[in-house]
Amino acid sequence: MGQQLGWGRRYLMVRPDHFRIDYVINPYMSTQDQPDPELTMRQWNSLRLAIIDAGGEVEVLEQRPDSPDMVYAMNLGLATAPTEDASGGRAMLSHMRFEPRRKESLTAAGWFTGHGFELDRTGGDGVGPHFESGDAFVFGDSLVVGYGPRTEEDALKHLAAGWNIRVRGLRITHEGMYHLDLPFCPIDSTHALVYPPALDPASQAELFGIVPDPIVLTDEEAFAFSGNSLVVNETVIMPACSTRLHDILTGLGLRVVVLDLSEFHKGGGSARCLTNPLDFDLAAASVVGGEVVLPG
Ligand code: ARG
Repeated sequence: MGQQLGWGRRYLMVRPDHFRIDYVINPYMSTQDQPDPELTMRQWNSLRLAIIDAGGEVEVLEQRPDSPDMVYAMNLGLATAPTEDASGGRAMLSHMRFEPRRKESLTAAGWFTGHGFELDRTGGDGVGPHFESGDAFVFGDSLVVGYGPRTEEDALKHLAAGWNIRVRGLRITHEGMYHLDLPFCPIDSTHALVYPPALDPASQAELFGIVPDPIVLTDEEAFAFSGNSLVVNETVIMPACSTRLHDILTGLGLRVVVLDLSEFHKGGGSARCLTNPLDFDLAAASVVGGEVVLPG
């Protein structure tokens, strides 16, 4: 049995006042299928309240009218908790792959610095490697980073050297699983939900090396966004949960809360995508000079 995760108690969410599908950058999006604004707000609030109910904290940022995808706050930046010596946390700002999402980073930068985070970035305005924080999780002895569809391999070097950490890369090859937060969800220190077909064969092997107790999702579970869940203390907040998964998770002593987040699935994101953890702890990944471990 694993230990509770050392992060996932404090989140940043973006209130979806301007959520719509203006462009198509993933296979779930269609400009013909627009979200209902009222239902969107109700679903978003249910997620915010579920996090608070589980003992978590939520900071809310207003959405830019010109950035419909900004509701997927998970991509605003990779943030670490303040350290014991009371210095602020750090944030690696995302450098979005697609131009229509890049203005989000302007507002995110202001929010992070305004809240005491020291800011870093892999690039900006298309110059320097792309990095989208929906691809990055602390797990075990490293920062695990998915690359390919969004984050570029060069961003891993930047993260490792800039922050003196061990980064383990996983190459994503499935077009429907463009961020690591779709096929990978840490549950506790040893368990994670995983969907191996999202990755190339060498990365699948690497994934099973990283996760001591993998809970392998079926195709149906993965495409219902079950991997896009979050754990707050002993509660798992999920957009969908099969009976099989429910049994496994409650068997680990967790409480499962299932929320309808259908409107956000129209943009290709769910519970995890809507929430940016602000309290990652990189201590276990720290290595002087940094280190990148690639699959194969
Ligand atoms: N429409 C958004 C995009 O394609 C969805 C982002 C989903 N967020 C996530 N963390 N996976 O960028």
